[in-house]
Amino acid sequence: MKEFILISVATLMFSVNGFANDNGKELFTQKCEICHKLSFPKNKANMVAPPAPGVMFHMHQKFNSDEEILAYMRNFVMNPTKKTSLKKETRRFGLMPSQKGNVTPQELKTITSWMLENIHMNKKQHKQREKQYKMQ
Ligand code: HEC
Repeated sequence: MKEFILISVATLMFSVNGFANDNGKELFTQKCEICHKLSFPKNKANMVAPPAPGVMFHMHQKFNSDEEILAYMRNFVMNPTKKTSLKKETRRFGLMPSQKGNVTPQELKTITSWMLENIHMNKKQHKQREKQYKMQ
């Protein structure tokens, strides 16, 4: 009986977690993907903002922990300023418009957790992209 309860709790936790992540993907698609694509376009002229893997690469470069990334995103996405932005990206794309009204702080937390778990780009991949776009 004890084992049964343990397994049920574990299954429940897994499904709740799974739900949060599915939800994160859906929210990202609805609220962020119009600008932050999930993959890099062949032609850099088609980019209006850093694609999602680029965003996460930048976040991991700038911060050491998931908590710091979450705190930054919660602030920046609602209230982007030139001062708090990544200067290079702002120079390239213009300042991101505030998403206040488009996304709630709770949804942003779900989106960020999903991104932290699912969107990855390492240094080598980032370098290759930069090289490819420089040649265009
Ligand atoms: C209307 C287009 C647009 C939408 C919608 C949008 N962004 Fe952005 N975002 C940008 C642009 C452009 C930049 C890069 C320029 C800058 O830093 O301001 C940016 C930058 C960022 C950055 C800083 C890191 C980086 O690589 O520059 C984060 C984090 C971010 N966006 C998260 C989000 C999230 C999460 C959502 C959805 C809730 C979202 N954005 C929706 C346009 C958008």
